[in-house]
Amino acid sequence: MIIDERLSTYIDSISWDIPKYLKEVEKAALADEVPIIRRSMQSLISFLLEMKKPNAVLEIGTAVGFSSMFMSEYVPEDTIIDTIEKVPIRIKCAKENFERYGKNDRITLYEGDAVDVLKKLAAEGRKYDFIFMDAAKGQYLNFLEPVLDMLTDDGLLVTDNVLQDGDIIQSRYAITKRDRTIHGRMREYLYFLTHSERFKTVVLPVGDGAALSQVIRADRKKE
Ligand SMILES: C[S@@+](CC[C@H](N)C(=O)[O-])C[C@H]1O[C@@H](n2cnc3c(N)ncnc32)[C@H](O)[C@@H]1O
Repeated sequence: MIIDERLSTYIDSISWDIPKYLKEVEKAALADEVPIIRRSMQSLISFLLEMKKPNAVLEIGTAVGFSSMFMSEYVPEDTIIDTIEKVPIRIKCAKENFERYGKNDRITLYEGDAVDVLKKLAAEGRKYDFIFMDAAKGQYLNFLEPVLDMLTDDGLLVTDNVLQDGDIIQSRYAITKRDRTIHGRMREYLYFLTHSERFKTVVLPVGDGAALSQVIRADRKKE
């Protein structure tokens, strides 16, 4: 938790409300220790979706389908929602959830490693104006090229977990050896987002840290 837990609980208590079926999915996911978006991130995403009203949403990291079903509640009815997951047990659970809650026609689940699925979708010429990156933190850089190809000229890329529960500010030597590669790769990813001429990026201490990267339209770029 990056911000004070009591403060976070207070903010959730005044700003968080989701449909009953999602509360059930959230409860089951947490009981099974499946990492799903935290409530503060839920608030942020629902706000962004209501504001942006995207035509097509792509999520990388479905888990059991909580966030894709969640997003389906805050976008127009004809918005395309595609999501990618590679772990068979999670795919099975997400499919069961989509079936149970009538989301089969609403959400398309692509099975497989995002590195391959993203390449395939990009090769098909798919375009998305809202991309939610929420998979293995150490792999975000590997996903970037096809993600950038598919993001529209007014697209928004939302990346979760960028502050790694606060670990991002630690020196690499203070990080356990096991997590050093991820730590370095996340810093590299954040450097790219915050220094790319294509984006205006803001990093927020929400959940595990959220980066919002808005594509800057060509006619708005500085000389
Ligand atoms: C944090 S969970 C996603 C949570 C989900 N977005 C939610 O909030 O309901 C990350 C998921 O990404 C999946 N994942 C990690 N690396 C992946 C990859 N290379 N390709 C596809 N899925 C991946 C994991 O199996 C895991 O289920």
